[in-house]
Amino acid sequence: MTTIRIITADEARAAIDDLCETLSDCINGGASLGFMLPFEPKDAVGYWNEIADAVARGGIILAVAEVNGKVVGTVQVGLASKPNQPHRGDLMKLLVHRSARGLGLSRRLMDAVEAEAARRGRTLLVLDTATGSDAEKIYPRFGWERVGVIPDYALWPEGGFCDTTLFYKRLGLAA
Ligand SMILES: CC(C)(COP(=O)(O)OP(=O)(O)OC[C@H]1O[C@@H](n2cnc3c(N)ncnc32)[C@H](O)[C@@H]1OP(=O)(O)O)[C@@H](O)C(=O)NCCC(=O)NCCS
Repeated sequence: MTTIRIITADEARAAIDDLCETLSDCINGGASLGFMLPFEPKDAVGYWNEIADAVARGGIILAVAEVNGKVVGTVQVGLASKPNQPHRGDLMKLLVHRSARGLGLSRRLMDAVEAEAARRGRTLLVLDTATGSDAEKIYPRFGWERVGVIPDYALWPEGGFCDTTLFYKRLGLAA
């Protein structure tokens, strides 16, 4: 059984082993997510604890996809805190474990987190993703507008420069 839901900080801490495994699997699969190889699930514990803290403060919306009670996918929206951007959010870390890809989980995660961001009054989301990645191909399918490419923005996990592609999406409008 597959479930998609927005979770609390305590639920994130309870699921931290699965969240670490999912992040590590994506990095080891070659995704540019802010970390370098070698990377093991234990290397992600500090990161997910910081995210749980941010969820507790109300700064991040965290969604997960569970298959038979195990988290295999996740996505976040960081709620911009600047006084002049109360309407904006940053879509981050759309991750689906390689064992659960191609099942439509990323689409359902994006639907859930975008709906929650809209419910919290956000009308504009932005994201960046590695140019040439699978993720870059799928965001337009979810109604996101491609803005352009910044060269040499980050490094691939195994090293070497990676371009990034910027996208945005207005919420509350038909895709
Ligand atoms: C990108 C990622 C999240 C997709 O997850 P997924 O659950 O397998 O994707 P879905 O099954 O929901 O597919 C979503 C849509 O994209 C399409 N799609 C999936 N993989 C694709 C690919 N490699 N190329 C082109 N289209 C693809 C699907 O056909 C589907 O389209 P549809 O809903 O219109 O039929 C997954 O590959 C991943 O975790 N990658 C590594 C992490 C990463 O790079 N994240 C992005 C950070 S910004």
